[in-house]
Amino acid sequence: MEQKEFSLQYNCYKDSSEMESSDAELLAKARQAVKTSYSPYSNFAVGAAVKLSNGEIVTGSNQENAAYPSGLCAERVAMFAAAAKFPNESMVSIAIAIESPHHDTEGPIAPCGACRQVMIEYEHLHHQHMNVIMDAENGNVVKVNKASDLLPFDFHADHLKK
Ligand code: THU
Repeated sequence: MEQKEFSLQYNCYKDSSEMESSDAELLAKARQAVKTSYSPYSNFAVGAAVKLSNGEIVTGSNQENAAYPSGLCAERVAMFAAAAKFPNESMVSIAIAIESPHHDTEGPIAPCGACRQVMIEYEHLHHQHMNVIMDAENGNVVKVNKASDLLPFDFHADHLKK
């Protein structure tokens, strides 16, 4: 038996002014995108902004539905819109922001498992790591260099090859 482990390195910033300007700009776009959230059921508004290899930024926000599972997270709205509009561009970074009256948890607004899975699909597809920039409590920001770090033992297309 051999015991192995995963480790995760990430950056914590006191606020976005400590970040590289391109990251701070992307986060600002995600924060703006929060305003377009349609989240009357959860009152948890999320915005996301994806930066592509051609420099384009595509934003999205969570879109809910009276039939709850029909809604979609902000991250996937943004990534799917980006992929539909620019199918050949890789996704370099995604920033995630929230606005919620009842957000008092510690740590970053980390994407849900389904969104991590979608991020990893695009990382594999384009052979490009996707930085994940997350708003955290008290204006803090957390950055992870690749989405796959957030989902160890991920399932991807290679597993389907015969
Ligand atoms: N949500 C996101 O948009 N992104 C996340 O990473 C977590 C959750 C949305 C889904 C739903 O509209 C609301 O937040 C509450 O779960």
